[in-house]
Amino acid sequence: MRAIVRTGADDAGSRDAAQAGPGMEMREVPAPRPGPDEAVVEVVAVSLNFGGLAYGELARPGTVLGADGVGVLLHDPSGRLPARTRVAFTSPHGTWAERAVVPCDSLAEVPPTVSDTDAAALPGAGLTALQAVDTLQAALGGLAGRNVLVTGAAGGVGGYAVQLAKRAGAAVTAVARSVERQEHARRLGADRVAGSVEAAEDAGAAGADGAAETGTNSVGFDGVIDTVGGEALAAACRMVAPGALILNVGHASGRASLIDVEAMRRRAPGARIEAFVCTDVSGRALSRLLAMVAAGELEANVGRTRPWGEYRQAVRELLGRTSVGKTVLRVS
Ligand SMILES: NC(=O)c1ccc[n+]([C@@H]2O[C@H](COP(=O)([O-])OP(=O)(O)OC[C@H]3O[C@@H](n4cnc5c(N)ncnc54)[C@H](OP(=O)(O)O)[C@@H]3O)[C@@H](O)[C@H]2O)c1
Repeated sequence: MRAIVRTGADDAGSRDAAQAGPGMEMREVPAPRPGPDEAVVEVVAVSLNFGGLAYGELARPGTVLGADGVGVLLHDPSGRLPARTRVAFTSPHGTWAERAVVPCDSLAEVPPTVSDTDAAALPGAGLTALQAVDTLQAALGGLAGRNVLVTGAAGGVGGYAVQLAKRAGAAVTAVARSVERQEHARRLGADRVAGSVEAAEDAGAAGADGAAETGTNSVGFDGVIDTVGGEALAAACRMVAPGALILNVGHASGRASLIDVEAMRRRAPGARIEAFVCTDVSGRALSRLLAMVAAGELEANVGRTRPWGEYRQAVRELLGRTSVGKTVLRVS
């Protein structure tokens, strides 16, 4: 079968993996062999995830790229789903291939009204945002009326986090670097938008839509979902309310953060920072997201769709930051 695999050399010959991405090529590989609790899926579409591409140098040469997708189930040894069911999934075994091996409990049936493209966009980024928003909800005793900051809000995880936090009743401040991306975040439901975390103070005070609003920073953020890291995370730590929970989900900036923890402790007693890791990649959690899309409560946030032969261009667009939301590759 054909698959897109990690090769030894960086694609653009750059030492900066965050810019160059992993070296990769489409080639014939042996069909994957499922373990006892694993299903085989004929892949229809897959999505691009920043982590698997920017940090691709971590993967061994020959590794099949990709972590999620949508396809047609060929065989489910658990017997839970019949063959030919349309399924969305995550998999640790690589998905940018004509066939993928998927842990049975990571499979979710796709509702008939949800397109392949939308279903392919959801799994990795959507599950991360879902667990992050659930974590904030549990820690803060609900999000209704709470101030939540989302960085990287026009990206994959950020775009879902904005929507899910809003759906949970939060007042959402979204940070994205260009006006176009800020408008995108607003369209997804953000109450306020800003070009940087520091500027979020002004966005709150002035009311980004011109309406009178309480300055976000006058009360501080109760919850933060940060996908950017670097200075964005450090600035967020200076702008939280007592008892806040800051989830550092990623570091798309590629930068480390210099955080004055003592200043945060004094300004916002009880505030905590968590190095968040998405652990719930179950089909059950994915079904929750698919049901929201089917009900029109969650937008799949697909910015671009390309045939998978155009994978190099798609990866360059993602790492070069010219794509918005999720990019989906059509495999068949
Ligand atoms: N912890 C976990 O379990 C987990 C799970 C999934 C993903 N992640 C991580 O989460 C991060 C986001 O993933 P994603 O799939 O959402 O990526 P994505 O779609 O590429 O979005 C990343 C966003 O980060 C912003 N960004 C990039 N570089 C920036 C910089 N230098 N300064 C400010 N903003 C910058 C971009 O914002 P602009 O629109 O402003 O350019 C972009 O929208 C990655 O680091 C990924 O590895 C972690």
